[in-house]
Amino acid sequence: MTLTSPAKSASAARYLPHDRGLESLKSAADRCHGCPLYADATQTVFGHGPAGAPIMLVGEQPGDQEDRAGLPFVGPAGRLLARALDEADIHPTLTYQTNAVKHFKFTRKGGKRRIHQKPSRTEVVACRPWLIAEIEAVRPQVIVCLGATAAQSLLGPAFRVSAQRGEAVGLPQDVGVDVAPEPIVVATVHPSSVLRDRSESHDEAYRLFVDDLRSARKAYSAS
Ligand code: URA
Ligand code: SF4
Repeated sequence: MTLTSPAKSASAARYLPHDRGLESLKSAADRCHGCPLYADATQTVFGHGPAGAPIMLVGEQPGDQEDRAGLPFVGPAGRLLARALDEADIHPTLTYQTNAVKHFKFTRKGGKRRIHQKPSRTEVVACRPWLIAEIEAVRPQVIVCLGATAAQSLLGPAFRVSAQRGEAVGLPQDVGVDVAPEPIVVATVHPSSVLRDRSESHDEAYRLFVDDLRSARKAYSAS
């Protein structure tokens, strides 16, 4: 009988360092080859902010500008997010900002421009150990999932942002986050979707986004 070993699944798990402080996680993530996305991106874009930040914001993945700068939310979506946070009375120093996936996934158009591609479920699951380690290191009181990718990474693939946006929910047990007290999770849309909405519904989309951030702010003040 021939024994075939099962295909090794993509995961960042074996790149996690023994020391789980943010600095040590960040430098270990620089060397992550947990899925194929490291190969074409410029660098790992790890989260940014202080341990102990009460609000963690989780986006999808770095974009073109974040990939070059090595920091999350420095491009157009980040600017819209910064404005909305300000309107929701959330000072940036209260936040730790990160992404579900730490490498930029893109295709090239005309050989030059890099066009964002949505990460696959496999890539999101592969990268999740970094996100879980960040949650355990930062110990936020509230996690805001910006868009479906972040929400489904932490709340499961059946989670629908459209049905449950702005609602305070708990982290499912099987995600394996080990922190006490457990953070509250609030999901909303991704700031890029508000940015892309150039129809007459843009202002309304922006207002609803700010409302969801205010709900997160209240969940934090109340806890
Ligand atoms: N979009 C994201 O989801 N994250 C970033 O860091 C930038 C844009
Ligand atoms: Fe590792 Fe995540 Fe980058 Fe994949 S996307 S190589 S799992 S850091």
